[in-house]
Amino acid sequence: MSNSVIPQDWGSYTAVEHATWDTLFARQVSMLATRAAPAFMEGLDVLRMSKPGIPDFEELSQRLQRATGWSVVAVPGLIPDAEFYDHLANRRFVAGRFIRTPEQHDYLQEPDVFHDVFGHVPLLANPVFADYMQAYGQGGLRSMQYGSIHRLARLYWYTVEFGLIRDGAGLKLYGAGIVSSNSESAYALDSDSPHRLGFDLQRVMRTEYRIDDFQQNYFVIDSFEDLLETTLETDFAPVYRQLESLPDIEISEILPSDRVITRGTQKYAAERRSRRGA
Ligand SMILES: [Fe+2]
Repeated sequence: MSNSVIPQDWGSYTAVEHATWDTLFARQVSMLATRAAPAFMEGLDVLRMSKPGIPDFEELSQRLQRATGWSVVAVPGLIPDAEFYDHLANRRFVAGRFIRTPEQHDYLQEPDVFHDVFGHVPLLANPVFADYMQAYGQGGLRSMQYGSIHRLARLYWYTVEFGLIRDGAGLKLYGAGIVSSNSESAYALDSDSPHRLGFDLQRVMRTEYRIDDFQQNYFVIDSFEDLLETTLETDFAPVYRQLESLPDIEISEILPSDRVITRGTQKYAAERRSRRGA
């Protein structure tokens, strides 16, 4: 099932490509020092990701193997769901090998090596998050027989990609889509526009999301242990059946049952809409 894997061909990266990584890396590390979950910063350290240049997946995998048994493999782009889940279930993280051009520093349509490796890999050095990612892959394989991939995809979106986590009295970032984006790293914590809601598995699986702009909702977990436990203890089959009969929740809707941490103004999204003339 793992036939999309390609060689990273590390030797073929140009000096400009390595320099692009270094620029993005330096900018994000200074942005994230006070904003990212401590486990993310520890992962950068354990994996020695501050070494200059685009990481060599083989070397990175050796360190990751020692930490949690995960490895990183290159793929040409988006791959079929079943294969993606199979990789995760076997503790392999799939990453794009290309890097954005210097002109594309802030906006990208497709995930590149900076998003995939800088954004996702540090947390894979954390034993609890590493187990969560594997459990997600196993759950993904099972979800296929229930036709519920889109519901499980929302769980990935609102945790792995755009999750926030409590840290003492404050919030920290851990989602890869946020930590690999300079502008969203600021917006997700500082803006009064988005809602920040307490994480609830079924609520998240009913919530639509946007792929073209900053998020309008963030879901906040209490800890990685909580996230892992909830995922392992939930019997997804009856949940999927139950969700069949419940409507999806619109992006910026707040329900009476929500644990509201901050109620956003949704001003940013409204302004973007009016500028687009919608
Ligand atoms: Fe991602």
